[in-house]
Amino acid sequence: MTRRAKITIIGAGNVGATCAHWAAAKELGDVVLLDIIEGMPQGKALDLMQSAPIERYDCNIVGTNRYEDTANSDVVIITSGLARKPGMSRDDLLAKNVEIVKSVTVEVARHSPSAVLIVVSNPLDAMVYTAWKVSGFPTNRVVGQAGVLDTARYRTFIAMELGCSIEDITALLLGGHGDDMVPLPSYTSVAGIPVTHLIPKDRLDAIVDRARKGGGEIVSLLKTGSAYYAPAAASVQMAEAIIKDKKRILPCAAYCDKEYGIGGYFVGVPCVLGRNGVEKVLEVPLAPEEKAAFQTSIDHVKELVAQAEKLLGH
Ligand code: LAC
Repeated sequence: MTRRAKITIIGAGNVGATCAHWAAAKELGDVVLLDIIEGMPQGKALDLMQSAPIERYDCNIVGTNRYEDTANSDVVIITSGLARKPGMSRDDLLAKNVEIVKSVTVEVARHSPSAVLIVVSNPLDAMVYTAWKVSGFPTNRVVGQAGVLDTARYRTFIAMELGCSIEDITALLLGGHGDDMVPLPSYTSVAGIPVTHLIPKDRLDAIVDRARKGGGEIVSLLKTGSAYYAPAAASVQMAEAIIKDKKRILPCAAYCDKEYGIGGYFVGVPCVLGRNGVEKVLEVPLAPEEKAAFQTSIDHVKELVAQAEKLLGH
């Protein structure tokens, strides 16, 4: 008999605790929720355990402050770090979050040397890079969550516009997890019908713009932090693809060297996600204006990574 999968979530704040909730509800495996605050992860884990008889999931959920309890995880979701407040961009978090992500990744890598890391902390593309550098893991076992969330926002707005089911909308998005991300109407379909046949260009442009700024819209409504239900759902969908070796094709921040000519950075691209993490990056042809928008986003990611590298002393 094989053992249950083990999923560790680093950071038991809103995103981390909600990841634990979704992972348990999907019965993905046993869950370890770690935070530096004493009592808080233990309390949330126990609360989730006590939901199990009602929701009927057979998972063990442990809250802890000790990395020893995370040992030999299959997947580790890193959510640690500050979240932005109104008026801040994700980039404003860089200096603080490089330190945090660096220190947690050292411990995670030591205790779970074979895990796949899913990074959620912001600014996302620079934090994935940081986790990769610090962990020393191969590039396929480090991936960032952004595109699943960003396309989910984009798909939500399309469904709202058309008054149709979200189930029938598939979409692709490229680039960094910033306001210059690139949703691609040319690769968006509604039950196989190109979205451009169903929504006029000006409306579609407005939807693309709203999706790009979707994180900021939530921050300005919440006022105390950033989104967490959809970011957590997105992270757990990636964890599920990995744990169940589903080979799902999802937009993720994956390491690209020759791919798209990116030259050694993590940026949002369509990937095959399975047991080995990022098993393949899919390259798709782009129109000149899509290419240009993608390049602007990549240049922004490169700037952030340069700042992170400086802080890491590389
Ligand atoms: C967002 C933050 C979590 O996009 O990056 O909501």
